[in-house]
Amino acid sequence: MTSLPRGPVVAPSILAADAARLAEQVREVVTAGARVIHVDVMDGHFVPPITFGAQTVSALREQVDGLDVVLDVHLMVERPERHVASFATAGADVITVHVEATPHLHYALDAIHAAGCLAGAAICPGTSPEALSEVVGQLDLALCMTVDPGWGGQPFIATSPERIRRLVALVRLATGIEVDGGIDAGTAPACVAAGARLLVAGSAVFGAADPGAAYQRLALAVTQGVAHETEAA
Ligand code: DX5
Ligand code: ZN
Repeated sequence: MTSLPRGPVVAPSILAADAARLAEQVREVVTAGARVIHVDVMDGHFVPPITFGAQTVSALREQVDGLDVVLDVHLMVERPERHVASFATAGADVITVHVEATPHLHYALDAIHAAGCLAGAAICPGTSPEALSEVVGQLDLALCMTVDPGWGGQPFIATSPERIRRLVALVRLATGIEVDGGIDAGTAPACVAAGARLLVAGSAVFGAADPGAAYQRLALAVTQGVAHETEAA
C-alpha cells in the first residue's frame, strides 16, 4: 500500500490547473518536486460545482506512472461510500470523505481500506473536530478544511490553526493533518506550526505563471515554517 510522505509537504490541487493542459501542468509540478497531487471531486450536491470523476483520476494515474506520486482524492460528494470502489480502481492512493456527507462514516472508511487505499476524513469549517472522535482508529489522514469546500481562491479562515491543534490532539497521526483552502506562503507556516503535515494548494501553485516555480517557493515557505517551529521549541 502507498504511504504518505512524512511532511510537511505541499500537495498541488489540480482544481486550479488549466483543464485543457492538465497533463502538462501536472508534469510541471511533479518535475519541480511535488509528490502528492490533490484531486477535488465535486458532485453538484454536497457542494454546488461539478468537477472531476474517476476517469480523470485514471488519466492522471497513467500520467504519473512510475514517478512515485501519491494521488490524493478529496471526495466532496454526498454518500461517498457509493463511489469508493470506482475511484480506487481508477488509481487513487488516498481517498478522503467528508463527515458531513454520510451517516455511514465508519462504513465508508472501512470500504476505502478494503479497496486498498489510505483513508481520510474531512471536516468543514462549521464542524467540530470532535466529529471524528469515533473513527480515529480508522484514519490515515484527517483533513481540516481551512475554507468552506466548493471553490478555489477563497481566503484562509483565520481561526483554522486553533482547529488544526484540536485535530492534532484528537487524532495523533504520524502523517498528521491535511489542510485545504487558502494555503499560500503567508498562511502555510501557521498551519505547519499548528501541526499540519500535508498542505493543499490550488491557486498558489496553478494560479502562478510558472506552477513549478510557485510549488518550489511554497515548499520552501513550508520548510521554513518547520525551522521556526524547531527554533521556538
Ligand atoms: C476547495 C478544494 C480545494 C481547492 C483549494 O473546496 O477542496 O482543494 O483546490 O484551492 P485554493 O488553494 O485556491 O484555496
Ligand atoms: Zn480539496
